[in-house]
Amino acid sequence: MHNKQLTIAPADIQRAVEQYRTPFHLYDEGTIRAAVRRLSAAFAWAPHFRNYFAVKATPTPEILKIVVSEGCGLDCSSFTELVQAARLQLRGDAIMFTSNNTPLDEYRFALKLDAQINFDDIGHLDWLLDQDVTLPALVSFRYNPGADREGNTIIGRPAEAKFGATRAQLHRGYAAARDRGTKRFGLHTMIASNERNADYFVTTADMLFGLAAELHAALGIEFEYINLGGGIGIPYRPEDEAVDIERIGAGVQRAYAEHILARGMRPPRVVLECGRVITGPAGMLVTTVRHAKSTYRNYVGVDASMADLMRPGMYGAYHHITVLGATPLPSDERYDVIGSLCENNDKFAIDRSLPAVVAGDIMVIHDTGAHGRAMGFNYNGKLRCGELLLRTDGSLQLIRRAETIDDLFATYIESDT
Ligand SMILES: Cc1ncc(COP(=O)(O)O)c(C=O)c1O
Repeated sequence: MHNKQLTIAPADIQRAVEQYRTPFHLYDEGTIRAAVRRLSAAFAWAPHFRNYFAVKATPTPEILKIVVSEGCGLDCSSFTELVQAARLQLRGDAIMFTSNNTPLDEYRFALKLDAQINFDDIGHLDWLLDQDVTLPALVSFRYNPGADREGNTIIGRPAEAKFGATRAQLHRGYAAARDRGTKRFGLHTMIASNERNADYFVTTADMLFGLAAELHAALGIEFEYINLGGGIGIPYRPEDEAVDIERIGAGVQRAYAEHILARGMRPPRVVLECGRVITGPAGMLVTTVRHAKSTYRNYVGVDASMADLMRPGMYGAYHHITVLGATPLPSDERYDVIGSLCENNDKFAIDRSLPAVVAGDIMVIHDTGAHGRAMGFNYNGKLRCGELLLRTDGSLQLIRRAETIDDLFATYIESDT
């Protein structure tokens, strides 16, 4: 059984448990800052490199402020996420808007903020013009390479994924925008999620820079930015290798030189939209064992549920679990670690080797900092838990309170009878 290091010292987790009721997600500011700096350093060669942190990963304002203070822009995909960027006073090229099946009001708001817009479909340009909406000065489309590339389970195989436009469509879309007078262009793709193979991203860069060169040659357009999307993975399992970020940076640099610089194209900015690799390992879900029961297998019931962390139930995703204070006890029991939803997939772990636990023990579910609390939902009227931040000065800050039943009932409209 492999062990996995916690990103926050057990004594600090214990301090949080003593001050706040479980369950809660706990984030480490220092880990977030270090992750942004490492990514920026790997891409320091690229002109005006910027990671647009994917708001959907961890939308809590105090977390967004940390990544923005480190130089990140924000990647938004919905009205609410745009509002969050606006509330942090971001405008213009500090915002990337990468949405799909986009409603009109979202485009209108993105345009009002002067955000960089990645269109998911070339038909949206005419649709906007039909509604008397002025197109942005900079037009960018999301490319879907279809059968040319493999995706993965989270995002789907590109040929079956709902995102983006085909190569032929891109030729038509950029030509139409150019013919209407657009002079500024971007290009985007995002075809994998939680990918840990550095070379996958280099292949994606080869593909996208090559496509930019092809569009440049065919249509005479220059690109201001090329957005390689997010999707850099993290080692959820103890035996997983961490992604070699520096190898990605160096490989993308080689591809940039070969496709862009060697052809004498105007050098575009290279940007990313990573969320998981920035905040994923920085967060953990801290939960208390409530009951244990044994039937055809052994169950440990905790006070968190799928409402607080959906990834295991939704994707069968692995999240490592540490029983606080139990290491180095042997992991000689096998448990399903369960929440209290009336859904059999409300499980944080299935048949997992863990030390023997009793009610009151604290379990720490690792790597919940991205696409964790953010994905939660209220089925069974479950109230989603709050969030704490361990600051670099050692202080603990409540950055989101737990939901209350009043939050939940606020949307019900009852008649008098
Ligand atoms: C368009 C887009 N950009 C960026 C991201 C961030 O991905 P990750 O957090 O895996 O880096 C996502 C994730 O779903 C996405 O859909």
